[in-house]
Amino acid sequence: MAESIAILDFGSQYTQLIARRIRENHVYCEILPHNTPASKLRSMPFRGLVLSGGPSSVYDDGAPAIDPEILQLGVPTLGICYGMQLGSRLLGGHVTGSSTHEYGPATIELTDDLLFQGVERQTTVWMSHGDQVTEVPESFQTLARTETCPHAAVRHRPTGFIGLQFHPEVTHTAEGKTIITNFLFRICGCQGDWSLNTFVDEQIEVIRNQVDGQSVVCGLSGGVDSSVVALLLHRAIGSQLHCIFVDNGLLRQGERDQVVETFRNHYHLNLHPVDATDRFLARLQGITDPEEKRKRIGHEFVEVFRDKAKDLSGLHFLAQGTLYPDIIESVSPTGGPSAMIKSHHNVGGLPEELGFELIEPLRYLFKDEVRVIGRELGLVDQLVNRQPFPGPGLAVRVLGEVTAERLAILRAADTIVQEEIERYDRYAEIWQSFAVLLPVQTVGVMGDKRTYDHVVALRVVESTDGMTANWVYLPREILSETSRRICNEVAGVNRVVLDICSKPPSTIEWE
Ligand code: XMP
Repeated sequence: MAESIAILDFGSQYTQLIARRIRENHVYCEILPHNTPASKLRSMPFRGLVLSGGPSSVYDDGAPAIDPEILQLGVPTLGICYGMQLGSRLLGGHVTGSSTHEYGPATIELTDDLLFQGVERQTTVWMSHGDQVTEVPESFQTLARTETCPHAAVRHRPTGFIGLQFHPEVTHTAEGKTIITNFLFRICGCQGDWSLNTFVDEQIEVIRNQVDGQSVVCGLSGGVDSSVVALLLHRAIGSQLHCIFVDNGLLRQGERDQVVETFRNHYHLNLHPVDATDRFLARLQGITDPEEKRKRIGHEFVEVFRDKAKDLSGLHFLAQGTLYPDIIESVSPTGGPSAMIKSHHNVGGLPEELGFELIEPLRYLFKDEVRVIGRELGLVDQLVNRQPFPGPGLAVRVLGEVTAERLAILRAADTIVQEEIERYDRYAEIWQSFAVLLPVQTVGVMGDKRTYDHVVALRVVESTDGMTANWVYLPREILSETSRRICNEVAGVNRVVLDICSKPPSTIEWE
């Protein structure tokens, strides 16, 4: 790795955004836990350090700290918000606690400084803090102030530490991008020669060396992450890769055929499809509790995968599509509400006890970077842009007991939802659109006859990361055509309702 920046994470909701901003400048960066020792950093080729913001006050008991030696490494260091307060305090500044929070835009007066080259002397920045640095010793230089914040940016001359009270990484800071670019290129001396193209070549090299002639197994679901892992591995080691595709009977209409057609016939991968529908349905018989369903599906997946891998024999490595956010969440000092919400989402992951050595080539990438790599590897657009689909599949959309009959009703309704919503001219902005089969029956009238049939709900949301979402107000014409077709074409359904709740307070899936 030629050059990179280390970000020490104090639990800010913006830490990942800092990483995104740095990578947009073609500079590689990694997010590390705040308590990473200086000795470890010394052994890594970092051009600069960023100390992120965080929810704590430096005066809290057990507030996250850094190894103080880090500030003496001689590497340019940028502290943002909490990172500024912590660094300034360690270097002799005074931080004043506050029970009130400054949150929102502020006008800032900047001095002439390398960090602010090309930035207006008066500009808008985004503040989100309680405490602030109120006094700094002689060894500091104040680089910026706002009406309420006398030291909105500081530099410690002897170490080169720079602190910013505001958040340059958020788009509400009008010239934040320029400030980050200045830090990377003018202060850290980065070249900006990292790109996802080099990433593919580097990974192929790494994989070839690691695998060294042995065989690799990969669980391929047809989702973006596992598809990209499979194609990357295939490019690196060809037929030494074996992909297991588990049809759990909980997939959308035609999904299995599409995966087989794409990966076996089009990309010529060693694909081993397993039809485990009966095994999964037997496990789900009589089960209505959502968590119990998820648990059983997760366990059964591992069993089916293990059985198939045993049949194939001689496999040494397991390739998985773990992404960067999965790893970062587990090192955040707060754990955070987002980590909690996602805890049930590892259905479809495989436990360590399977005894394989792991290959996780995407572990330092964000989802949109994975999509770029997918395109680079020639993954068809339809797969690159695919909507997220939960590991437990349609089981969390058939509310109540999951049976073959109820799955068939949902699948038919869901296919109509896909066909109709694709006609929406802003379809690309939709995060997910799907049907849910409710566990109630209602009275209807069809052809002069009373019916007592199922209800289908429509769930259509916009989101950037699945952590929060807004329901989409589709044009009336699309809604009514979808509803008309479902009631006419899907036997057993006589009512369609629309879910008009965002996340929070609802979740995207109903279970
Ligand atoms: P919720 O329903 O919690 O879902 O708002 C947020 C996003 O995660 C997807 N999801 C899952 N993905 N395994 C997955 O890989 C799962 O078990 C799982 N459950 C929900 C959901 O579709 C949405 O995009």
